[in-house]
Amino acid sequence: MCGIVVAVAKNNVASVLLEGLSQLEYRGYDSAGIALMNGGFHRLRTTGRVAELNKIVNERKLQGKTGIAHTRWATHGEPSEHNAHPHFSGEASRIAVVHNGIIENYETLRQRLQAAGLKFISDTDTEVIAHLITFNLERTLDLFEAVRDSVTELQGVYAIAVMEEARSDRIVVFHNGTPLLLGLGTSGNYAASDASALIQVTKRMIYLKEGDLAELYCDSYRIVNCFNGSMSEVDRIVHESKLTTEDLGIGSYAHFMQKEIFEQPSVAANILEEIFNTNSASPQLFGDAAKHIFTQIDKVLILACGTSYHAGLVARHWLETVAKLTCNVEIASEYRYRNPVIQANTLVVGISQSGETADTLAALSYAKAFGHRYSLAICNVAESTLTRQTDLCFLTRAGPEIGVASTKAFTTQLTGLMLLAVVLGKLHGKLSNEDESKIIGALRHLPVSLNRVLRAESEIKVWAKKLSESQHILFLGRGIHYPIAMEGALKLKEISYIHAEAYAAGELKHGPLALIDKDMPVIVIAPNDELLAKIKSNLQEVRARGGKLYVLADNDSSVESSSGLEVIRLTEYAGLLSPILHTIPLQLLAYHIALIRNTDIDKPRNLAKSVTVE
Ligand code: G6P
Repeated sequence: MCGIVVAVAKNNVASVLLEGLSQLEYRGYDSAGIALMNGGFHRLRTTGRVAELNKIVNERKLQGKTGIAHTRWATHGEPSEHNAHPHFSGEASRIAVVHNGIIENYETLRQRLQAAGLKFISDTDTEVIAHLITFNLERTLDLFEAVRDSVTELQGVYAIAVMEEARSDRIVVFHNGTPLLLGLGTSGNYAASDASALIQVTKRMIYLKEGDLAELYCDSYRIVNCFNGSMSEVDRIVHESKLTTEDLGIGSYAHFMQKEIFEQPSVAANILEEIFNTNSASPQLFGDAAKHIFTQIDKVLILACGTSYHAGLVARHWLETVAKLTCNVEIASEYRYRNPVIQANTLVVGISQSGETADTLAALSYAKAFGHRYSLAICNVAESTLTRQTDLCFLTRAGPEIGVASTKAFTTQLTGLMLLAVVLGKLHGKLSNEDESKIIGALRHLPVSLNRVLRAESEIKVWAKKLSESQHILFLGRGIHYPIAMEGALKLKEISYIHAEAYAAGELKHGPLALIDKDMPVIVIAPNDELLAKIKSNLQEVRARGGKLYVLADNDSSVESSSGLEVIRLTEYAGLLSPILHTIPLQLLAYHIALIRNTDIDKPRNLAKSVTVE
C-alpha cells in the first residue's frame, strides 16, 4: 500500500527520502514520487521502481532541506505518472500533498471544487485534498489551520503530509486511521508510514493517534488532536524503536522471502523463549488482564485476512481440541458488513502480521461496537494500530517481514495460537497437566523440527522444475491441514501467478474431480493423522483419472511413491503441530517455482504487504 516519507532537516534530505521509500517498497506500489523545496517545488514522479526515481533525482541533482516522498498503490486511477504523488493544486500550486488511504466522499468534493472553477489533472482522490487545502488556505492564510479545516470535510481512513511553498521550514501531517509516525532526529524531524523508513536517521518515534495533526520543523514539532474538541497541544510518548538496520537487511539471501522462510526455526525459538524452562504456559503471555478475561470467556471469534485468516482456521481446530471452546473464524472484510449475533463473553481475536490491515481493524471495532467485550491481538508489530486497540496482545516476535508473501509471520502466529489454546484449555479445566506438558514439549522441539523440514529443499526444487510450467495446480488437505492447503495455494498464486485452488479433499467428488486430467497436478498434504486413510482414498480418486500427484507426508505416513505419485517425507509426525511443519515445503515450493518463472518474488505484481485501505 502507499508509503509516505517526510523530512525537514538541516541538510539536503533527498537521499533520506529515497532510502525511506526503498524501505517501504515491501508494502507494494506501482509508482513513486518526490517533491523537494528549493526556492520552489521540484517534483519528480515515475511508474518505475524507487531505484529509477533515485536515478533521475541524481541525474537532475534534485536537492532540498524539506521534502515529501511517496510510493503509490493505485486505488483511484491507473498507475501512471500523472496519478503518482506528490499532488499539486493546479499548475501554480502553493502546496504539495502525499496521501495514503481513501477519501470516500471524493466525488462529491470533486464536483463541488470543479463547480468552484478548480481544474483536476489526475484521476486520484488525493488531488481533491490538495485543492481543498488550497481553498481553505486562501481563507486561513496558515497551512496548519487550512489542513485542520479540510480534514473535517474528508471522509475515510487516511494519512496525509502537506508541504507549502511559502514556508520551506515546515511540513504538516495528519493521521486518521492509516499508519503514520513521527521520527525525531538530531538534525531534523521526519514522518513515515512505518519505522523501517526512518531508522536510518533516528530511533526516537512517536506513534500518532487518530485525529493527530502535527507540524514538523527542523528542530521542533507540535501535535494537536482534531477529534478531541480542543485544539490545545497534546503530549505523545516518544518510543525508542528496537528495529536495527540489520533487521531490515537481506543478508546473504537472494530474496527477503527466502531469508524469511529460513528464519523460521530461529523466530520460533524467539517466541518460545518464554516457555523454555517450564512445562506450562502462563496466561501472562497474553497480557496482565489475560487470566481474568480468559476465565470470563466461553467462545472465541477470530477475525483476519489473507494468510492470517488461514492461521485462524488452523487455530479453530486447536481451540476445539485442546480447549473445547467453540471458535468461529471470519474473513474480516465479510464480517464487518454482517449483522452478527452478540455474544458478550466471546474473546475476539484479531490476527495480523502488520497490525494495520484496514479490514481487520474495522472488523474488530465493529465486533466491539456490537457488544463483544474482550479482545486480543496476535500481531507481529508492537505499537501497531491493532495492538493499541485490544485489551490483550501477543507479539509474534518474528522481526520485520519484508516479502509480500507472508511466511515467518504465519508460523509464529500459529505458535502463538497454540499457546492460546493451551492457556485457555488449562484455565477452563479441559487440559490435563500431562497433556499440557506434552504440547509444551512438542513446541519446544519445534525449532529443531522446522530445521529438519527445511532440509527437504532439494527435493522441493525437483518438484518446482516439474510444476513451473503448469497453468493450474490443485491443493488438497483434510481437517487441520485443509487451511495449510489453502495457504499453499495462496503462496503459489501470490508469487508465481499460477492459478491454484485448495480443496478439502473430501469435497473432491463434489466438483473439482471434473478438472482432473494429466495437465492438472495435485499437491496433497498427507500426514500420519486420523484422516490418512481417507486421504489415501482421495489419492486413488485422482490417480484413477490420470491426475499427477505430489504428496507431502511425514516419516510415519504409509504412502509410497509409485507411477504418477511422488512423495516427499518431511520429519516425524508432529501431532497437533503438524500443520506448522507442512507449511514450510509449500512456502519453498512457491518460492522455487517463482524463481524459475522469474517473477518479482518480494514485490509481486498488484499486491501490497500492508493493506491499509478497504
Ligand atoms: C496482504 C498481504 C498478505 C497478508 C494479508 C493480511 O494481503 O499481502 O500476506 O496475509 O495482507 O495482512 P496482515 O498484516 O493483517 O496479516
